[in-house]
Amino acid sequence: MTHSPTIAALIPAAGSGTRLGMGFKALVELGGKTLLERAIQNVQSHVDQIWMAIAPPMQPDVQPQVQFLLERYPKLNWVHGGETRQASVWNLLEASQNHPNATDQVIVHDAARPFLAATPLEALIRAVGRTGAATLALPCADTLVQAQNGFWHTLIDRSSAYAVQTPQGFTRSVLHQAHQQANLTHSSATDDAGLVIQIHHAVEIVAGDSRLFKITTPTDLELARAFVRGWDAAL
Ligand code: CTP
Ligand code: MG
Repeated sequence: MTHSPTIAALIPAAGSGTRLGMGFKALVELGGKTLLERAIQNVQSHVDQIWMAIAPPMQPDVQPQVQFLLERYPKLNWVHGGETRQASVWNLLEASQNHPNATDQVIVHDAARPFLAATPLEALIRAVGRTGAATLALPCADTLVQAQNGFWHTLIDRSSAYAVQTPQGFTRSVLHQAHQQANLTHSSATDDAGLVIQIHHAVEIVAGDSRLFKITTPTDLELARAFVRGWDAAL
Protein backbone atom coordinates (compact mmCIF):
# COMPACT_ATOMS: atom_id res chain seq x y z
CA MET A 1 0.00 0.00 0.00
CA THR A 2 1.40 3.41 -0.90
CA HIS A 3 1.16 6.01 1.79
CA SER A 4 -0.10 9.35 0.54
CA PRO A 5 2.14 12.20 1.71
CA THR A 6 1.01 14.26 4.68
CA ILE A 7 0.80 18.03 4.22
CA ALA A 8 1.04 21.06 6.50
CA ALA A 9 -0.18 24.48 5.43
CA LEU A 10 2.17 27.22 6.66
CA ILE A 11 0.54 30.65 6.78
CA PRO A 12 2.77 33.68 7.32
CA ALA A 13 0.45 36.24 8.93
CA ALA A 14 2.85 38.29 11.04
CA GLY A 15 3.28 41.28 8.73
CA SER A 16 2.40 44.75 9.95
CA GLY A 17 0.34 45.71 6.91
CA THR A 18 2.08 49.06 6.46
CA ARG A 19 0.88 49.70 2.92
CA LEU A 20 -2.74 48.92 3.80
CA GLY A 21 -2.56 51.09 6.93
CA MET A 22 -5.28 49.29 8.95
CA GLY A 23 -3.18 47.58 11.64
CA PHE A 24 -2.28 43.90 11.38
CA LYS A 25 -3.46 43.00 7.89
CA ALA A 26 -4.23 39.36 8.76
CA LEU A 27 -6.88 40.61 11.20
CA VAL A 28 -8.58 42.97 8.77
CA GLU A 29 -12.18 41.90 8.13
CA LEU A 30 -13.52 41.08 4.73
CA GLY A 31 -17.16 40.05 4.42
CA GLY A 32 -17.48 39.28 8.14
CA LYS A 33 -14.29 37.20 8.49
CA THR A 34 -10.66 38.12 8.96
CA LEU A 35 -8.25 37.57 6.07
CA LEU A 36 -6.47 35.07 8.31
CA GLU A 37 -9.63 33.03 8.85
CA ARG A 38 -10.28 32.97 5.11
CA ALA A 39 -6.76 31.64 4.47
CA ILE A 40 -7.27 28.92 7.10
CA GLN A 41 -10.72 27.99 5.80
CA ASN A 42 -9.53 27.69 2.21
CA VAL A 43 -6.82 25.16 3.05
CA GLN A 44 -8.30 23.23 5.96
CA SER A 45 -9.89 20.31 4.13
CA HIS A 46 -6.80 19.76 1.94
CA VAL A 47 -4.11 19.46 4.61
CA ASP A 48 -3.34 17.54 7.81
CA GLN A 49 -2.02 20.45 9.88
CA ILE A 50 -2.19 24.24 9.69
CA TRP A 51 0.46 26.52 11.19
CA MET A 52 0.16 30.30 11.33
CA ALA A 53 2.92 32.79 12.18
CA ILE A 54 1.62 35.78 14.10
CA ALA A 55 3.22 38.96 15.39
CA PRO A 56 3.70 39.07 19.20
CA PRO A 57 0.86 41.62 19.72
CA MET A 58 -1.48 39.16 17.96
CA GLN A 59 -0.95 36.50 20.67
CA PRO A 60 -4.10 34.50 21.50
CA ASP A 61 -4.24 35.75 25.09
CA VAL A 62 -4.26 39.34 23.79
CA GLN A 63 -6.31 38.97 20.62
CA PRO A 64 -9.69 37.28 20.98
CA GLN A 65 -9.88 36.89 17.17
CA VAL A 66 -6.81 34.63 17.26
CA GLN A 67 -8.09 32.66 20.28
CA PHE A 68 -11.35 32.15 18.37
CA LEU A 69 -9.47 30.67 15.41
CA LEU A 70 -7.57 28.19 17.60
CA GLU A 71 -10.83 27.03 19.17
CA ARG A 72 -12.66 26.82 15.88
CA TYR A 73 -10.03 25.07 13.72
CA PRO A 74 -8.66 21.94 15.43
CA LYS A 75 -5.79 21.49 12.94
CA LEU A 76 -4.45 24.98 13.72
CA ASN A 77 -1.20 25.72 15.59
CA TRP A 78 0.64 29.01 16.00
CA VAL A 79 4.18 30.35 16.24
CA HIS A 80 5.68 33.81 16.51
CA GLY A 81 6.61 35.40 13.21
CA GLY A 82 9.96 37.07 12.53
CA GLU A 83 11.13 40.42 11.24
CA THR A 84 10.62 39.44 7.60
CA ARG A 85 8.28 37.10 5.76
CA GLN A 86 11.24 34.78 5.20
CA ALA A 87 11.98 34.69 8.94
CA SER A 88 8.31 33.98 9.66
CA VAL A 89 8.30 31.03 7.25
CA TRP A 90 11.51 29.74 8.83
CA ASN A 91 9.83 29.78 12.26
CA LEU A 92 6.84 27.93 10.76
CA LEU A 93 9.11 25.33 9.17
CA GLU A 94 11.07 24.74 12.37
CA ALA A 95 8.02 24.46 14.61
CA SER A 96 6.18 22.14 12.24
CA GLN A 97 9.32 20.02 11.83
CA ASN A 98 9.56 19.56 15.61
CA HIS A 99 6.00 18.26 15.78
CA PRO A 100 5.85 14.49 16.48
CA ASN A 101 3.88 14.06 13.25
CA ALA A 102 5.99 16.33 11.05
CA THR A 103 4.43 16.24 7.59
CA ASP A 104 6.13 15.09 4.37
CA GLN A 105 5.15 18.23 2.45
CA VAL A 106 4.47 21.90 3.20
CA ILE A 107 2.29 24.41 1.40
CA VAL A 108 3.13 28.07 2.10
CA HIS A 109 0.25 30.50 1.62
CA ASP A 110 0.01 34.24 2.41
CA ALA A 111 -2.72 35.27 4.83
CA ALA A 112 -3.12 38.28 2.53
CA ARG A 113 -4.64 36.21 -0.35
CA PRO A 114 -8.21 35.41 0.69
CA PHE A 115 -9.54 33.99 -2.57
CA LEU A 116 -7.93 30.55 -2.91
CA ALA A 117 -10.21 28.08 -4.67
CA ALA A 118 -9.95 24.30 -4.35
CA THR A 119 -9.03 23.71 -8.02
CA PRO A 120 -5.69 25.59 -8.09
CA LEU A 121 -4.79 24.28 -4.62
CA GLU A 122 -5.42 20.67 -5.67
CA ALA A 123 -3.41 21.22 -8.87
CA LEU A 124 -0.53 22.59 -6.80
CA ILE A 125 -0.60 19.61 -4.42
CA ARG A 126 -0.48 17.19 -7.37
CA ALA A 127 2.51 19.07 -8.79
CA VAL A 128 4.39 18.85 -5.48
CA GLY A 129 3.86 15.08 -5.58
CA ARG A 130 5.43 15.01 -9.06
CA THR A 131 8.35 17.40 -8.74
CA GLY A 132 8.89 18.31 -5.06
CA ALA A 133 8.52 22.06 -5.63
CA ALA A 134 5.79 24.09 -7.32
CA THR A 135 4.14 27.48 -7.29
CA LEU A 136 0.98 28.97 -8.66
CA ALA A 137 1.70 31.74 -11.18
CA LEU A 138 -0.24 33.73 -13.75
CA PRO A 139 0.91 34.49 -17.30
CA CYS A 140 1.34 38.27 -17.67
CA ALA A 141 -1.48 39.82 -19.67
CA ASP A 142 -0.11 43.36 -19.56
CA THR A 143 2.85 44.63 -21.54
CA LEU A 144 5.97 44.55 -19.38
CA VAL A 145 8.63 47.23 -19.47
CA GLN A 146 11.71 48.12 -17.53
CA ALA A 147 11.58 51.78 -16.50
CA GLN A 148 14.38 54.23 -15.86
CA ASN A 149 13.77 57.48 -13.96
CA GLY A 150 10.04 57.16 -14.55
CA PHE A 151 10.35 56.62 -18.30
CA TRP A 152 9.87 53.58 -20.49
CA HIS A 153 13.32 52.11 -21.02
CA THR A 154 13.17 48.59 -22.46
CA LEU A 155 10.43 46.19 -23.37
CA ILE A 156 10.47 42.85 -21.54
CA ASP A 157 9.42 39.78 -23.51
CA ARG A 158 6.19 38.84 -21.77
CA SER A 159 5.60 35.59 -23.66
CA SER A 160 7.47 33.62 -21.03
CA ALA A 161 6.82 35.96 -18.05
CA TYR A 162 4.65 34.96 -15.09
CA ALA A 163 3.45 36.77 -11.99
CA VAL A 164 4.18 34.44 -9.07
CA GLN A 165 1.48 33.87 -6.46
CA THR A 166 1.02 31.72 -3.38
CA PRO A 167 0.32 28.97 -2.40
CA GLN A 168 3.66 27.37 -3.13
CA GLY A 169 4.33 23.76 -2.19
CA PHE A 170 7.43 21.72 -1.43
CA THR A 171 8.71 18.49 -0.07
CA ARG A 172 9.59 19.48 3.49
CA SER A 173 13.27 18.57 3.05
CA VAL A 174 13.58 20.75 -0.07
CA LEU A 175 12.19 23.87 1.60
CA HIS A 176 14.19 23.21 4.75
CA GLN A 177 17.42 22.92 2.78
CA ALA A 178 16.61 26.14 0.86
CA HIS A 179 15.98 28.12 4.05
CA GLN A 180 19.06 26.68 5.77
CA GLN A 181 21.21 27.68 2.83
CA ALA A 182 19.70 31.20 2.82
CA ASN A 183 20.32 31.54 6.57
CA LEU A 184 23.91 30.46 6.09
CA THR A 185 24.63 32.81 3.19
CA HIS A 186 22.39 35.66 4.44
CA SER A 187 20.54 35.63 1.15
CA SER A 188 16.90 36.49 0.76
CA ALA A 189 14.08 36.17 -1.74
CA THR A 190 10.57 37.56 -1.85
CA ASP A 191 9.07 34.09 -1.55
CA ASP A 192 9.91 30.46 -0.88
CA ALA A 193 10.13 29.36 -4.50
CA GLY A 194 12.78 32.08 -4.89
CA LEU A 195 14.85 30.43 -2.15
CA VAL A 196 14.38 26.97 -3.65
CA ILE A 197 15.71 28.24 -6.98
CA GLN A 198 18.83 29.40 -5.16
CA ILE A 199 19.63 25.77 -4.25
CA HIS A 200 19.14 24.87 -7.93
CA HIS A 201 16.01 22.79 -7.43
CA ALA A 202 13.48 23.13 -10.26
CA VAL A 203 10.14 24.79 -9.41
CA GLU A 204 7.14 23.72 -11.48
CA ILE A 205 4.74 26.46 -12.53
CA VAL A 206 1.07 25.63 -12.05
CA ALA A 207 -1.77 27.74 -13.49
CA GLY A 208 -2.66 30.42 -10.96
CA ASP A 209 -5.86 32.40 -10.61
CA SER A 210 -6.42 36.15 -11.02
CA ARG A 211 -8.74 36.03 -8.00
CA LEU A 212 -5.72 35.07 -5.92
CA PHE A 213 -4.43 38.65 -5.92
CA LYS A 214 -2.67 39.78 -2.75
CA ILE A 215 -4.28 42.47 -0.66
CA THR A 216 -1.49 45.00 -0.39
CA THR A 217 -3.01 48.48 -0.76
CA PRO A 218 -6.38 50.08 0.13
CA THR A 219 -7.39 49.71 -3.53
CA ASP A 220 -6.84 45.94 -3.34
CA LEU A 221 -9.09 45.80 -0.28
CA GLU A 222 -11.72 47.82 -2.10
CA LEU A 223 -11.65 45.29 -4.95
CA ALA A 224 -11.86 42.41 -2.48
CA ARG A 225 -14.86 43.97 -0.73
CA ALA A 226 -16.65 44.37 -4.07
CA PHE A 227 -15.97 40.72 -4.91
CA VAL A 228 -16.37 38.85 -1.63
CA ARG A 229 -20.14 38.49 -1.57
CA GLY A 230 -20.20 36.69 -4.91
CA TRP A 231 -17.30 34.49 -3.79
CA ASP A 232 -19.05 33.47 -0.56
CA ALA A 233 -22.35 32.88 -2.36
CA ALA A 234 -20.64 30.45 -4.76
CA LEU A 235 -19.16 28.30 -1.95
N1 CTP B 1 4.51 38.38 6.72
C1 CTP B 1 4.95 37.69 7.86
N2 CTP B 1 5.99 38.19 8.61
C2 CTP B 1 6.59 39.35 8.26
C3 CTP B 1 6.17 40.05 7.10
C4 CTP B 1 5.13 39.54 6.33
O1 CTP B 1 4.39 36.65 8.20
N3 CTP B 1 7.56 39.81 9.03
C5 CTP B 1 3.36 37.86 5.95
C6 CTP B 1 2.19 38.84 5.90
O2 CTP B 1 1.42 38.74 7.10
C7 CTP B 1 1.45 38.43 4.65
C8 CTP B 1 2.56 37.83 3.76
O3 CTP B 1 3.70 37.66 4.59
O4 CTP B 1 0.46 37.44 4.88
C9 CTP B 1 2.86 38.75 2.58
O5 CTP B 1 3.42 39.97 3.05
P1 CTP B 1 2.87 41.44 2.72
O6 CTP B 1 1.73 41.39 1.79
O7 CTP B 1 4.06 42.27 2.40
O8 CTP B 1 2.24 41.87 4.14
P2 CTP B 1 2.81 42.91 5.19
O9 CTP B 1 4.29 42.73 5.33
O10 CTP B 1 1.97 42.78 6.40
O11 CTP B 1 2.47 44.30 4.47
P3 CTP B 1 3.44 45.57 4.26
O12 CTP B 1 4.65 45.05 3.49
O13 CTP B 1 2.62 46.56 3.51
O14 CTP B 1 3.82 46.04 5.65
MG1 MG C 1 5.62 43.11 3.65
